[in-house]
Amino acid sequence: MFYYFDELTSTIDEARDGKYAHGDVVAAESQTAGRGQRGKKWSSAAGENLTFSVVLDTSFLRTDEQFLLLETVALALVDMFASYGLDARIKWTNDIYIGDRKIVGVLIDHSLGTGGMLARSGAGIGINVNQTAFDTALPNPTSMALETGHSCDRRKVLEEFYKRLMARFETLKGGAREDLQRDYHSKIYRLDTPARYTLPDGVEFTGTIRGVGPGGELLLEDAGGIKKYLYREVSFVI
Ligand code: BTN
Repeated sequence: MFYYFDELTSTIDEARDGKYAHGDVVAAESQTAGRGQRGKKWSSAAGENLTFSVVLDTSFLRTDEQFLLLETVALALVDMFASYGLDARIKWTNDIYIGDRKIVGVLIDHSLGTGGMLARSGAGIGINVNQTAFDTALPNPTSMALETGHSCDRRKVLEEFYKRLMARFETLKGGAREDLQRDYHSKIYRLDTPARYTLPDGVEFTGTIRGVGPGGELLLEDAGGIKKYLYREVSFVI
């Protein structure tokens, strides 16, 4: 079922309610406390974009397999953009880019089960659809309207994404994880392309992404060889 709200604090909070079941979508026209990665706020112009969470039964995944869910969601977004003629890439770990600009943010909220398993997950997704003017504080935003040159029907975008997500989710559940990993690899932003990165201490260097490991670690090659980086251990210079 799709549930539409005019206003929520965050779709992530609402989707935690046990009344929502696997496959339910909780969407809001505006969020008063939209959440982004690293404790940041997610702002989105009311009525122009898509801000929603999809409730997923992830009780078949171990907690150390949660990166597979991120891959599944990211690939479904890439699939949806392809149907609009947009060549999207996945910027490690969970942004979707068109060229060097961010078009989607993803924040997944997990509830844990027992014995090291997940129970359910709320995939929180913000897609910039028809917004064309952004806060100047945002480094590099874009939207479907800016990239395609026309406005898009938000409901159709959501339905198209939902269809793609359920198909990718079946692949995950069916156990064909190598297929997901292969497809994810082929869509990595900056794959095999030398570019600049920074470490938390501010040191900047040139590196080349060679892939992403099964646990979600970035494989980045520099003059010293390929090193593995976990979330927050390296940032992109864009
Ligand atoms: C990011 O920082 O890139 C992640 C942004 C995630 C935003 C979405 S909008 C729907 C859902 N509800 C939230 O509060 N955040 C996510």
